[in-house]
Amino acid sequence: MKILVTGGLGFIGSHTVVELQNQGFEVIIIDDCSNSTEKVLDGIVAITGKLPLFEKLDLKNRDKVEDFFKKHDDIEGVIHFAASKAVGESVEKPLLYYENNIGTLVYILKELSQKAKSSFIFSSSCTVYGQADVMPITEDAPVKTAESPYGNTKQMGEEIISDTCKVTPSLNAIALRYFNPMGAHPSVEIGELPTGVPQNLVPFITQTGVGMREQLSVFGDDYPTSDGTAVRDYIYVVDLAKAHVIALKRLLENKNDSNYEVFNVGTGTGSSVLEVIKSFEKVSGKKLNYKIMNRRAGDITSAYADTTKANNVLGWKSEYTLDQAMKSAWDWEQKIRK
Ligand code: UD1
Repeated sequence: MKILVTGGLGFIGSHTVVELQNQGFEVIIIDDCSNSTEKVLDGIVAITGKLPLFEKLDLKNRDKVEDFFKKHDDIEGVIHFAASKAVGESVEKPLLYYENNIGTLVYILKELSQKAKSSFIFSSSCTVYGQADVMPITEDAPVKTAESPYGNTKQMGEEIISDTCKVTPSLNAIALRYFNPMGAHPSVEIGELPTGVPQNLVPFITQTGVGMREQLSVFGDDYPTSDGTAVRDYIYVVDLAKAHVIALKRLLENKNDSNYEVFNVGTGTGSSVLEVIKSFEKVSGKKLNYKIMNRRAGDITSAYADTTKANNVLGWKSEYTLDQAMKSAWDWEQKIRK
């Protein structure tokens, strides 16, 4: 069964390609390599023994997208990762984000809508909840006004898919709302490859640990949390990748309750920034150089998932602990800096 993975050379995409191939799916990757490299294919081959099909293609090119779907008319499912994801950049360049994240989504949905049956998994984010009023966050929590164009593209993306599904019974879709993905494949053949200075906490920690950065800034210790630092739900990337395969199978096997569904993908446990630092120190045996600074604009106090729906309806549960995920992130960082 042929599955298209857009953005399949990226962080979450590459881990999902591995899980798909491990389960016997035939994978075709589209990636424009704007934030990834073809070398990731070597890692995928090292783990799975199989080279997925790959086409370097810019999804903003409508004609090329049409040609691609004509050529590969046997694609039965699409997992759509390809998108820009830097929150700060999205504030500076909103149209780039709307074109990259919304324009391309529309093109793909147009193609899928013409098929007799299609299955579509969308990369959404817990960012759609903003600062939720109740913890843990269930899928029924209200979607709040987005803080950034990036966040808005995830909200709008979900609405576009939902509206399209309402009038397209042949289209079946699941939006997965990820909490904070982290870690690397246990083989350390693939992992996160941030370009420039990492904005996310875990790669900044591991780069500081390995000596690439002098010091981690902890953004705020005056939040109303147990130790004053902000709380997030850190989900291991391989657990997250597996959620995609389970969601896809749910659609392929017609087990979905409606043709548009939404699931949180998190561990259900909140960890503060200081707890994440402690986890790093524990698994690496190193002291991390960090300093408490002011809060970062746009950050929320706390976000962690209620995973009841993902556990009971999707049949997925995270397996790795924060320490295990951190160990993989640290092993990966050490490997790539050698
Ligand atoms: C961010 C994005 C979110 C996106 C997610 C993807 C924002 C506002 N949100 O979430 O939309 O889906 O990444 O992973 O950017 N921190 C530090 N020092 C650092 C970096 C981070 O203290 O150098 C803190 C942050 O203040 C936050 C926590 O670590 O409390 C996690 O930050 P980060 O990894 O950037 O993720 P989010 O902000 O939760």
